[in-house]
Amino acid sequence: MDVQRIRADFPILRQEVLGRPLVYLDNAATTQKPRQVLDTIHAFYTQYNANIHRSPHWLGQAATELYEQAHRSVARFIGAADWREIVFVRNTTEAVNLVAYALTCSTSGQLAFRAGDEVLLTVAEHHSNLVPWQMARERAGIALKFADVEPDGTLDLDRVAASLTDRTRLVACAHVGNVLGAVNPVREIARLAHEAGALCLVDGAQSVPHMPLDVAEMDVDFLCFSGHKMLAPMGIGVLYGRRELLEEMPPFLYGGDMIEEVSLARATWNELPWKFEAGTPNVAGAVALGGATDHGTGQHLFGAMDYLGEIGMGTVCEYERSLVTRAMAGLQALPGVHVYGPSEPSERAGVISFGVEKHGIPVDAHLVAQLLDEDGIAVRAGGHCAYPLAARLGVAGTVRASFYLYNTLSEVDYLLTTLQEIIDHKLL
Ligand SMILES: Cc1ncc(COP(=O)(O)O)c(C=O)c1O
Repeated sequence: MDVQRIRADFPILRQEVLGRPLVYLDNAATTQKPRQVLDTIHAFYTQYNANIHRSPHWLGQAATELYEQAHRSVARFIGAADWREIVFVRNTTEAVNLVAYALTCSTSGQLAFRAGDEVLLTVAEHHSNLVPWQMARERAGIALKFADVEPDGTLDLDRVAASLTDRTRLVACAHVGNVLGAVNPVREIARLAHEAGALCLVDGAQSVPHMPLDVAEMDVDFLCFSGHKMLAPMGIGVLYGRRELLEEMPPFLYGGDMIEEVSLARATWNELPWKFEAGTPNVAGAVALGGATDHGTGQHLFGAMDYLGEIGMGTVCEYERSLVTRAMAGLQALPGVHVYGPSEPSERAGVISFGVEKHGIPVDAHLVAQLLDEDGIAVRAGGHCAYPLAARLGVAGTVRASFYLYNTLSEVDYLLTTLQEIIDHKLL
């Protein structure tokens, strides 16, 4: 993989911040966008902008065709058998909310969860895969159970198995943790859930952007992820759901485009996936995520998934592992630095959380992040929207460096030397 060629596609990486070259290591929060994706957004709004599924004119038809194709592109990228299993939403958070609401908003139907039914989560979930279930508990009287993680953040399958009961209706967990980067064995978790008669939802916010993955092979029922964490714009995300489940689930939002018939008295619902895509969607965002072709002119609007697909997700994953391996070895060798999460780079994706101590006293993670920022290095600090995990680890917060395909080994080395410099000379 030619990282310098890749970097040339990302205009933002050429700029300086605070007089220093930008070293962007906050990719778990959001990623930068290549010029090909920026060009697609520009092309959509300068050549194709119109509302979809409404307007009979040429532009309306063209926008509709591109939007429908974007569903197909996303389905191909994640191995979904049917493009109608792809629902465009705003982000992972909305996708989880959709499922949590649809499964608990009524008590009728086979799928509806009832009081006393259980949803099994882990203690390491992002708030996006926790708070919607807390609200579902309020709404429907379901019970939440939590599988604990090991001290290094990995999930022991025996704990998952031991937490399943005959009341478990759903197991919902992240594929890759956003704090510790631990990769969960979702294929096995889905198998355990199914053997117990439960469904399995996977939060793929930190996995879909970083590794090859196939929903058919994983055999999960729902997969949620965000475009902005994989080179696409903010405001576009995906819910994949098994078709027979989506068919049975009630809508989440109500209004235009999600209906089939409406009278003053009642309404009936459109077919998939439109039943779940109420109102005007983010058409440009969907096309910039999945990519689509104007068959009239042959012009291809390049999506983030085209970009990643051309490089190959296996290559992306392997390359990130080389960055993580170097970063972990360097951080573990720095006196006063403690790396959280799995000690083997092979057990984690491109996320490293660490703490810094000086004279045996923990240093505030935000101070470390601020000092790194003064040298142009963008990292995140705090609880990373997973406060229960911070409590479980017994830390107030961590510094998090997270990598993507445009980061370089020299950026990793720069992080290490800058951190050493901070510990030696800037912390008293
Ligand atoms: C594991 C995980 N789940 C969910 C989310 C929420 O993503 P979004 O803010 O795009 O909805 C994030 C964001 O950092 C995440 O890392």
